[in-house]
Amino acid sequence: MISVDWNERYKTGDTPWEKGGHHPGLPFLLETHLDLVERATSVLVPGCGLGYDVDLIGELTSSKIVGLDIAEEPIRRAKERSPRDKTTWVVGDLFDWNGKCDLVFEHTCFCAIPVERRQDYVSAMASLLPLGGHLLGIFFLNPDHEGEEGPPFGVTMEELCKSFGAEFELVWSEPPARTYSSREGEGRELCILWKKQATDFVADK
Ligand SMILES: C[S@@+](CC[C@H](N)C(=O)[O-])C[C@H]1O[C@@H](n2cnc3c(N)ncnc32)[C@H](O)[C@@H]1O
Repeated sequence: MISVDWNERYKTGDTPWEKGGHHPGLPFLLETHLDLVERATSVLVPGCGLGYDVDLIGELTSSKIVGLDIAEEPIRRAKERSPRDKTTWVVGDLFDWNGKCDLVFEHTCFCAIPVERRQDYVSAMASLLPLGGHLLGIFFLNPDHEGEEGPPFGVTMEELCKSFGAEFELVWSEPPARTYSSREGEGRELCILWKKQATDFVADK
C-alpha cells in the first residue's frame, strides 16, 4: 500500500490540490441541495485540508460542523484562519473517528485513500450516518493520466457505484457548475449525492 506523509506535504507546500479557497462549484452545489444542508444538525467534512469548503458550508447552516484531517498542519492553519466558532477542527484518521453526523461532505478525500481501503472508507462513512443520511461529494474521477501514480488514485463512476452501492443509493450526479481553472476541460470531477440505505439493500447491478 502506498503510504503518504500528508503532514509533510502540507509543511513543504507539496499540495497541488490546494487552491487557497473553496471549490468554485461548491456554492452552486450547496444551493442545489440547500434543503439537505439547512436540515443537517451535524456535518462532517473528512480530509478537509485547510478547510475552505468547511467555512463555506458553515455560512449556510447553523449546524455543528467537524472538519477532520489526518494531518496536523492544515488543521492548525484552519483553526487560525476560520472565523466560525461552531466548527470543530479535529486532527484524526477518518477510519478511527467515532462521532456521528447526518451529512458528510466529501471533496477529493476518497481519491486520496489507497485503493485497498476504499471499501473501508465507504463503511466508515455509512457507520457514522443514520439511515437516510446523505453523503454529498465532489469526486475526482479518472485520474489515470500517464505518469500519475497517486494520490489521487484513479477511480471511475462505475467503480464508485460498486464501492458505494453496497451501503448507499445513488440519488443524483452532475459535473460541477464551475471548477478551478487548472481543472477546466479535464472532465475529471463529478458531484454525487449518496443516501445511506439499510444494509440489506441490494443495489442495481
Ligand atoms: C487531496 S487532499 C484534499 C483536501 C481538501 N479536501 C481539499 O479539497 O482541498 C486529501 C486530504 O485528505 C487527508 N487524508 C488522507 N487520508 C486521511 C484519513 N485517513 N483520514 C483523514 N484525512 C485524511 C489528507 O491529509 C489531505 O488533507
